[in-house]
Amino acid sequence: MSSIRQHFEENGQGHVFAHFESLSESDQKKLEEQASGIDLTELASLVRNLVQSPGSGNEAIADNLEPANVIPLPESKGGNPTDWKEARSKGESALRNGRVAAFCVAGGQGTRLGYDGPKGTFGVTPVLKKSLFQVFAEKILASTRVFGKPIPWYIMTSVINHDETVQFFERHEYFGLPEDRVHFFSQGLMPAVDADGKILLSSPSEIALSPDGHGGSLRALVRSGAVRQMEADGIDTISYFQVDNPLVRCIDPAFIGFHLLNGSELSSKMVPKAYAEEKVGVFCQQDGTSLVVEYSDLPERLASETDENGNLRFNAGSIAIHIFSRSFVRRLGSGKDEAARLPFHLAHKKVPHLDENGTLVEPNSPNAYKFEMFVFDALPFAANPVIIETAREDDFSPVKNAEGVDSPQTSREDQLRQYARWAKSAGIEIETDDTGLPSFAFEVSPLFGDTPGRFASSWDELAHKPELTEGLVLV
Ligand code: UD1
Repeated sequence: MSSIRQHFEENGQGHVFAHFESLSESDQKKLEEQASGIDLTELASLVRNLVQSPGSGNEAIADNLEPANVIPLPESKGGNPTDWKEARSKGESALRNGRVAAFCVAGGQGTRLGYDGPKGTFGVTPVLKKSLFQVFAEKILASTRVFGKPIPWYIMTSVINHDETVQFFERHEYFGLPEDRVHFFSQGLMPAVDADGKILLSSPSEIALSPDGHGGSLRALVRSGAVRQMEADGIDTISYFQVDNPLVRCIDPAFIGFHLLNGSELSSKMVPKAYAEEKVGVFCQQDGTSLVVEYSDLPERLASETDENGNLRFNAGSIAIHIFSRSFVRRLGSGKDEAARLPFHLAHKKVPHLDENGTLVEPNSPNAYKFEMFVFDALPFAANPVIIETAREDDFSPVKNAEGVDSPQTSREDQLRQYARWAKSAGIEIETDDTGLPSFAFEVSPLFGDTPGRFASSWDELAHKPELTEGLVLV
């Protein structure tokens, strides 16, 4: 028996090889390879601590929670325009010196949207239905033109969507970005287990594996060699965003500047929560340490608590936009710092699996446990963390659900409102309703969206052709 099979046998997971003798040689090899990627000691401790011991409950998490300290926008109460100006200029200089990389996590399954394909390939803009990936690519390209230095873009995929993602970029010629500046790597995987902690098989030759959460991005950045590459390229600042948010400013000089001026290892953006139950994590402080408490973990009594002015007390919503220093990613991602490890969270899910007779079972209710790390759990380990406020309408309108809140429809309208604001700031009269939604659909390329001069002249050129008014496209 091979040493890996022996190791599984000794750790109570020998059933993983129950069908081994009937497999082809190449399938045997594949299964052994999958198995050797699993740390059984880590898994046993996760099963013991998460699956088999009752949860500590939300109230324990809530002990001593205080709202986080936030740098307000210049126009918000307590905001300081001079600080913002200084931060912007610091960030611009870092960009001119080529110190910044963009980083998008795109390894998720996107099940809630019900879209068949990598989420980044979903067509999201109002008229042209440009994909999320194209929108980000054009934003990054726009910044490289402004600052005169290429901004490398790292994209984390997973085994579920890696090949399709890479092919999509190839097919679209990287949307104008230099091919050697777009880097893909796959995130790590974790096995699903049943209530007894037994690893599930999805076929006789395959373990039921799933992505290890966006928190896995830190170790994947290290393992894949991305951090080493950044070091060689003189990059020390990583601008992190999720694949689901077309409004995100992939590269935001003021945000980068605040991060650098404060010597921060991890900085984050917040928006005031729209309502108490909004499904966003909340920035808090606990015994002097900053942290994000996920919406599902924040007790309802705290989520709805208000201050003397009637505002939500815990109102700093996390929109999953961060800046990491490269050295911090290396420290956490290498796993060498025993004291700074991201915890795993448990998800109870439906996972198709082989039963003891080798028959495939499609469960109707959750039957399995998956383990995921969350990237914002890095916050308590970061030196000098900074949280800045941002305007929701200019940074956050994610596409998460097929309908209702955070859906293609709401995101489309938020993009239209942004184009209308850009048009108005370029001196163009445009009819909008009370919410700022323009009366007709048009689209503006991120390549020059917020540059009023270019915007105005292109608009003039096109808007004089009446047949083009609906669906006017500034590309
Ligand atoms: C997430 C945050 C929430 C935040 C909100 C803002 C978590 C657990 N919660 O919620 O605090 O307020 O976004 O929009 O993240 N991903 C991977 N690999 C994985 C899992 C996810 O790359 O293994 C990526 C997805 O592709 C996506 C992002 O992470 O880009 C978000 O994942 P998702 O599970 O959809 O998080 P939300 O519940 O929407």
